[in-house]
Amino acid sequence: MSRAPLVFAAGIFYPGGEHITGWRARGSEPEAYLDLDYYTRFAQTAEAGRFATLFLADELYVWDRFRSGIDHGVNVRLEPFTLLSALSQVTDRIGLAATVSTTYNEPYHVARKLASLDHISGGRAAWNLVTSASDEEARNFGRDVHLEHGLRYRRGAEFVDVVNGLWDGWDDDAFLFDKQSGLYADRAKLSVLNHHGEHFAVRGPLNIPRPVQGHPPLFQAGASEAGRDLAGRTADAVFTLGGGDLDSGLALYRDYKKRAVSAGRAEDDLKVLPWFSPIIGSTEAEAEERFRELADLTPGQVQVDLLAHYLGTDLGERDVDEPFTFDFDLDGFNQSKSGYQSIAALLAQRPYTIRELAWDVLRRRFTLGTPDTLAAHLVDRYERGAADGFILMSPTLPDTLDRFVADIVPRLTDAGVYPAEYAGDTLRENLGLARPARRTAA
Ligand SMILES: Cc1cc2nc3c(=O)[nH]c(=O)nc-3n(C[C@H](O)[C@H](O)[C@H](O)COP(=O)(O)O)c2cc1C
Repeated sequence: MSRAPLVFAAGIFYPGGEHITGWRARGSEPEAYLDLDYYTRFAQTAEAGRFATLFLADELYVWDRFRSGIDHGVNVRLEPFTLLSALSQVTDRIGLAATVSTTYNEPYHVARKLASLDHISGGRAAWNLVTSASDEEARNFGRDVHLEHGLRYRRGAEFVDVVNGLWDGWDDDAFLFDKQSGLYADRAKLSVLNHHGEHFAVRGPLNIPRPVQGHPPLFQAGASEAGRDLAGRTADAVFTLGGGDLDSGLALYRDYKKRAVSAGRAEDDLKVLPWFSPIIGSTEAEAEERFRELADLTPGQVQVDLLAHYLGTDLGERDVDEPFTFDFDLDGFNQSKSGYQSIAALLAQRPYTIRELAWDVLRRRFTLGTPDTLAAHLVDRYERGAADGFILMSPTLPDTLDRFVADIVPRLTDAGVYPAEYAGDTLRENLGLARPARRTAA
């Protein structure tokens, strides 16, 4: 059986690009972060490059744990469903994926919003399930501290069941609109959910028909045991930080596929999309220079505070050239465990100063190269079985996406691994995923 073609998602976290200092880069338009035109250009460029979907990353707080968070990198942005609804009207084919925290939402609200976006976009909605990570988010929703890691994943799992159950409440042809008889809907085609679980009690039915895609695709990026397990059981695609060496990318890919199969699914039901954040130069030296420029634009205290954030500990005001040591406590750590572990792994290799550590932590998020080497890298990862596609997180915007579509996409199509046309009209079709049958309680 031939392999499904590569798929790409175009992500945005900071409107100025994925690099924390991307907003200061040459050509960036930081003051356009509330302009619909800015995002329209982004969406239409990605659509011209036949990206399966846009993806709006999101968090539910402002990064103000440290002074530098407001001073140098404030993460203010438009709310994803609002923005994607607007973008659905200026695009035709590209998917529209919103990040949803299952810790600070109710499934009824989310099922309804996604169904609405799916209907007004003709079957292009999707969600990225996150369980959120920080106490700052907890404090915006009536709690002092964030829910414990295992507990928030159990809540996430039940959340998915409830959302799917709500979507399956109405059969696809439940609405009759029969003026003659006066029958609006067929009661026999409705199943009321009546869910009573550990975290949610939801009667249903949902006040909107079954989505065009049945279930809008579900993306996840959980990297811990609990996160990978949930993805194996429920996700349609998973974003991984497998952009490092080939062996770890292969191992990660196999791990997710194995979990999908253990959960009774086919390998192809779960697409694995590693993170790809390219710094593109006409030569390797130009790409290196570009990365150095971004690093030099990142104030020292932001470097300290980024590490402090990933480690969940205030490191205070420090000289970035001081040697750095840290006592790790993985069990007691309640933010992103995988990020924490990867810093521990770096420090286990050799002594570091803060500047060096921040450099390495940032550096490995990005892949530097020319259009030729970057396209070859993507083709290689795909052909060797380390990726079904990639999540493109542009370090700087709008230039990285523009350049990717102009210079890298044609190379992928020429290599025969990337489609010259969209496969269909819905996101599920473009991801190569079947529309799920309606399932209701007996
Ligand atoms: C490509 C990508 C995008 C992500 N987007 C978000 C996001 O928008 N909001 C968020 O809170 N977390 C986001 N995360 C974090 C993950 O949801 C997850 O919490 C993290 O990878 C750690 O895994 P764990 O929760 O299993 O420990 C993202 C991760 C990746 C790799």
